[in-house]
Amino acid sequence: MKRIGVLTSGGDSPGMNAAIRAVVRKGIYHDLEVYGIYNGYAGLISGNIKKLELGSVGDIIHRGGTMLHSARCLEFKTPEGQQKGIEQLKKFGIEGLVVIGGDGSFQGAKKLSEQGYPTIGVPGTIDNDIPGTDFTIGFDTALNTIIDAIDKIRDTATSHERTYIIEVMGRDAGDLALWAGLADGAETILIPEEDHKMDQVVQKLQRGHERGKKHSIIIVAEGCGSGVDVAKEIERLSDFETRVTVLGHIQRGGSPTAFDRVLASRLGAQAVELLLEGKAGRTVGIENNKLVDYDITEVLSRKHSIDKQMYKLSQELSI
Ligand code: F6P
Repeated sequence: MKRIGVLTSGGDSPGMNAAIRAVVRKGIYHDLEVYGIYNGYAGLISGNIKKLELGSVGDIIHRGGTMLHSARCLEFKTPEGQQKGIEQLKKFGIEGLVVIGGDGSFQGAKKLSEQGYPTIGVPGTIDNDIPGTDFTIGFDTALNTIIDAIDKIRDTATSHERTYIIEVMGRDAGDLALWAGLADGAETILIPEEDHKMDQVVQKLQRGHERGKKHSIIIVAEGCGSGVDVAKEIERLSDFETRVTVLGHIQRGGSPTAFDRVLASRLGAQAVELLLEGKAGRTVGIENNKLVDYDITEVLSRKHSIDKQMYKLSQELSI
């Protein structure tokens, strides 16, 4: 293998730049030529592809976003779109591809692999919802952004003795909400993986109020409904005054944490190693802090689950 490509696709996540840097530098270390594909699969289809040098990825390890830009590309879901992409890869002489992104991006990588094109998936999403790795690139940074926001909201929540509902991202996964709730001592965490009853949520608020609590924090994962609806229901069932904060895309930006930079560097470099070993159709990840790789079809057939023990602990600590 002499020439490889790298792209980022789907929702960006802090640490993607560190992963791109690792792919480029590890590739060049092994005497490969590395090409950057801009705008995800859309750029692959249109041939928005440029050679990257060591200096192309200088001064990006600490930056959020992705220097290759990203897109959600419907055309690549079609066989015609995939064919156009493969033709571009052939035109540029690119023999292997590293795709950094979430499950939608991995679907594209799987299609390329099925058509005999060597592709490795690197999990980059704030949602932490990709099987085959304990952590995805960007989760830790997004989590810390949420914690920082909640710490600030706490101050005003106490002053005004209000109940704050904070809606966090995660698509269909509750990891961000669960980890943030545990890290910030939230009274209640609502995640799509677990059932909840609003009358019980209100009873818990009442118990806290009776023992003198000045405010309450409820974290709602976007996958189980809107924070506004939760607030309306609490006000319907009680006299608590609520306020809602939807953290939104602030969770996707910012300088990646040291954890995400290291994770991204390890996973990006490992993807290049796998291509050099002749492996294809794999995903990389870490489990128990060890690098692992799995068949991409198998990873996509698995359902992401939350850590039940952690959820139980969050319940026990917020009685
Ligand atoms: O997958 C990352 C993510 O930020 C999800 O948490 C969220 O549901 C979605 O992307 C938002 O997508 P968009 O930026 O396209 O609105």
